[in-house]
Amino acid sequence: MKNVAVSVRNAIIRAGYRYICKPYFFARDPELVHNQMITVGNMLGRVWLGRALTSLLFNYSHPSLHTTVLGIAFKNPLGLSAGFDKNADLVGIIPSVGFGFEEVGSITGEYCPGNPKPRMWRLLKSKSLVIYYGLNNRGCVVLGQQLRRALFRIPVGTSIAMTNCAANLDRAHGIKDFAKAFRELADVGAYTTVNISCPNAQGGQPFVDSGALEALLTELDKIPTNKPVLIKLSPDLTFAQVDTLLDIAKAHRVHGVICTNLTKPRDNKAVVDDLANIPAVGGLSGAPTKELSDALIAHVYTREQGKCIIVGVGGISTAEDAYRKIRLGASLLQMITGMIFEGPQVVSEINQGLARLLARDGFTHVSQAVGVDVPLR
Ligand SMILES: Cc1cc2nc3c(=O)[nH]c(=O)nc-3n(C[C@H](O)[C@H](O)[C@H](O)COP(=O)(O)O)c2cc1C
Repeated sequence: MKNVAVSVRNAIIRAGYRYICKPYFFARDPELVHNQMITVGNMLGRVWLGRALTSLLFNYSHPSLHTTVLGIAFKNPLGLSAGFDKNADLVGIIPSVGFGFEEVGSITGEYCPGNPKPRMWRLLKSKSLVIYYGLNNRGCVVLGQQLRRALFRIPVGTSIAMTNCAANLDRAHGIKDFAKAFRELADVGAYTTVNISCPNAQGGQPFVDSGALEALLTELDKIPTNKPVLIKLSPDLTFAQVDTLLDIAKAHRVHGVICTNLTKPRDNKAVVDDLANIPAVGGLSGAPTKELSDALIAHVYTREQGKCIIVGVGGISTAEDAYRKIRLGASLLQMITGMIFEGPQVVSEINQGLARLLARDGFTHVSQAVGVDVPLR
């Protein structure tokens, strides 16, 4: 499709989302709408016609967006972040929405119902969601079987985490549980993300402790896999804490980092909604994570002198947001909240905008722009 036709198509869908779909969705419980979207997406992804029509509405491709990272070929650098498709129900439809890859999960060792409902709230003015899901998913055995039967048309990463249960407050038990998820999914998908930054599980984030991370990665190293391994970082760590974790990760089988997960503190300057009626639980997504994620990407890129693969996520809702993360050092990008606030056509809008920004700056290929704003020694 020509650029002008794509722009017109996107503008029509954007208006339809803004004036029809979004008012309908946003008048309803966020988790209910999320579940309904999963059901519809799952149905569309199962049939050829559903995939073809979705592609017609949302797809966009450009040669400058093709990239190969960690030996994996991507048609564009923008992926669906972990947490939207927890149970891998959308692997059929996500390629047609225009994403270059998808991360399913987080998937835990055991089936996990998550935290009590309600557990998601919208912050309309701040363009953010308060998430308190608590790692609800069907568990690694069931999802491993399901994923092994699935046909992947784009790279699919598997995010794994520790089951959110009291038994895992014991470190040795928690590591066994984490290792179970790693092992069950070691042969499926393009890469594995070790999610050590979920803000919503019992016991907090035990693996930001250096001894605990060392013990966890030592255990995971023993499990054979051909897939690259990433770790997902919290935006609430100090740079000194991040440096310690990076040094530990480098001594183990870790190939890159994802910056970042949800942020917990509510005194974030991007939070402009009144939070009085929202319980003091959960983590914030969207705009409040944007600058934190940008800063961490630049920090990791500088510290590791461009040698650590970085996936940038947090508050992306425009091509400019995406491009900034790339120029700060991200080789790949992910998003969720921007799509919920702006509509699914935003994936195509971002990719089209990225191709334009790359051409404007004289880059023929997205990889050429990675880290150009960060001076290296
Ligand atoms: C509904 C929802 C559920 C999430 N669940 C997970 C999860 O299970 N595992 C994970 O690593 N991140 C999870 N996240 C965090 C996102 O993957 C992402 O890091 C964060 O939302 C920032 O990106 P965004 O601003 O584009 O949403 C979740 C986010 C949302 C909005």
